Amino acid sequence: MRELKTFYVRTYGCQMNELDSEIMIGQLENRGLVRCNDEWSADLLLFNTCSIRDLAERKAMGKLGLLGRTRQNHALIGVTGCMANAKKESLFQKLPHIDFVLGTNNIHELNHVLDEVLATGKQTIRTNDHFVHELDYLSAKREDKVKAYVSIIRGCDKFCTYCVVPYTRGPEVSRPPASILEECRHLVEQGYKEITLLGQNVNSYGKDQPAWNVLFHDLLYQIDQISGLERVRFMTSHPVDITRELMEAVRDLPSLCEFVHFPLQAGSNRILRKMHRIYTVEQYLEKVRLLREIVLSNKKWIDIGTDIIVGYPTETEEEFQETFRLLQELEYSVAFLFSYSPRKGTPAMRWRDDVPEEVKQDRLQRLLKLQEGIYIKQRQAFLGRTVEVLVEKRNVKDNQFLKGKTRCWKNVLFPGGDELIGTLQQVHVHSYSHQTLLGNLLPLSVQSA
Ligand code: 5AD
Ligand code: SF4
Repeated sequence: MRELKTFYVRTYGCQMNELDSEIMIGQLENRGLVRCNDEWSADLLLFNTCSIRDLAERKAMGKLGLLGRTRQNHALIGVTGCMANAKKESLFQKLPHIDFVLGTNNIHELNHVLDEVLATGKQTIRTNDHFVHELDYLSAKREDKVKAYVSIIRGCDKFCTYCVVPYTRGPEVSRPPASILEECRHLVEQGYKEITLLGQNVNSYGKDQPAWNVLFHDLLYQIDQISGLERVRFMTSHPVDITRELMEAVRDLPSLCEFVHFPLQAGSNRILRKMHRIYTVEQYLEKVRLLREIVLSNKKWIDIGTDIIVGYPTETEEEFQETFRLLQELEYSVAFLFSYSPRKGTPAMRWRDDVPEEVKQDRLQRLLKLQEGIYIKQRQAFLGRTVEVLVEKRNVKDNQFLKGKTRCWKNVLFPGGDELIGTLQQVHVHSYSHQTLLGNLLPLSVQSA
């Protein structure tokens, strides 16, 4: 049997994929393999792929196709992630040089599949529809030393009509609270200061397991008790499941950061219905108002973020204008803006993709320009202010600077020594460059005043 010594991993897509890669890297290192950054010399290549939009798939397919044409040596090649579930066996027809396909719900089987491929020399595939929490989270190999992702729920039951996730990741499956708490404690013992709880819809946590009697906000109260954990974030939410109890948790829990991702998707009620988002604009606005009111009764700040899709089938200019006006009004601190991309297997795929590409792009550009103006206004409002920064690492590009984030997810750079990594610092903001705030450490005498 041939021997594998080194591996290379390339990750596409969302934070859940990043975490899945960290878990797979842990499994491979436990097997004795060494990670390398050079795809040309590795014995095993893993591509952890994304299917959310056509561009994401084309990127990975392009890369994998190129490998088949250009590679000289005979490394094993594995395709994991959402594209594995979306395309299944057809990947072997399109990419005959790949050796195995491992779905999002099968990553715990990576080493078995490798053994099978090595023993038989045959192409192997595992793509379960349902997730079982059998992962060795504690062995995940994390690059970051200060902040970590922790998976709390996988899959999605919402079935928005444009979205491939319920088909690639399957139904919602919550992870037992004891296992989550054990991992969080373990991370804090290792020196981690910030945890981001991950799920396609974290707010659904626990609903599939009524016997546990632990919903998302209950979990947050338990995690907040872990001493030494400075910050907790969560990603991502569905507005329908953002409850008053969750808003109160953001208000009350010292560790919980004052940022809620609150994806609007569209500003027209007709399009929201077509998207099967199960809320109206009015209900959405009422929740945002309530969130701000509740949190600001105890904390000084609350930011919200959003995802928006333009050019949904049949979207008119007037309906787009409704989205435009809401983006203007709500002043999100983070906005991920997309043009609609039809995905195979989704209900929307059956409808005519009738908004011409140039109209989609024009709408997207108008939103991007609007949001850029909002970002500039927000950054200017930071000038002269002092912010709390969790220092994450040395900045790669200009390494006299340390890099960190505010509680509300703003990047900050400031000059300082390595001993500050992993600590909370007060930074006085004097300017900004693109998306990043630039500042100086506040002298200790001022900090303690
Ligand atoms: N086309 C464009 N954007 C999409 N998203 C999900 N599916 C699609 C699609 N088919 C966006 C949504 C979601 C984010 C992760 O990606 O805004 O919230
Ligand atoms: Fe996709 Fe909607 Fe589920 Fe989010 S809530 S993962 S957009 S189906």
